[in-house]
Amino acid sequence: MWNFRAYRAYLPLVEDLLADPAVRSMDALPQHAPEVSCLRHSLLVSYLSFQVCRFWGLDERAAARGGLLHDLYLYNWLDKSTHPDRNHAFEHPRVALANARARFSLTEKEADIILTHMFPLTITRPYGCLESLVVSTMDKLCAVAELLRLVPRTLPGVELAAPGAPARR
Ligand SMILES: [Fe+2]
Ligand SMILES: [Fe+2]
Repeated sequence: MWNFRAYRAYLPLVEDLLADPAVRSMDALPQHAPEVSCLRHSLLVSYLSFQVCRFWGLDERAAARGGLLHDLYLYNWLDKSTHPDRNHAFEHPRVALANARARFSLTEKEADIILTHMFPLTITRPYGCLESLVVSTMDKLCAVAELLRLVPRTLPGVELAAPGAPARR
């Protein structure tokens, strides 16, 4: 799945994002399963979306970048005290988009990917491009795989995406 040649094409597309402290801080935040942090989940979604879009001739760069930033909400969603006035499921895409816009220059597609990734739950915000459909689908598949513990512990993550970072085992 994570083959080296594709990885070499993928990494330059997200290198600047992975150097950002806020993006890196997602590695300390939980996501769907205890052993897969929000950053590792986002990397998995990003990389798979990149692969699918590359295969179908879609915008693989937007998929990689939007996929990596789609959950940049930057709080522990399991701890209600960190977001007392917010319905996480419905509102975290808007928070992630605001956080991403505050740090990076986003294309229209990247912004759409982040904002619509919870569709159809967020029924009023449908996909604006095919890349959004791809990322949203990969997000749901990854969430299920993580919940069912189907994501192997050896999944390349931060240590591969950011060479030089301490290896995680
Ligand atoms: Fe999300
Ligand atoms: Fe997600």
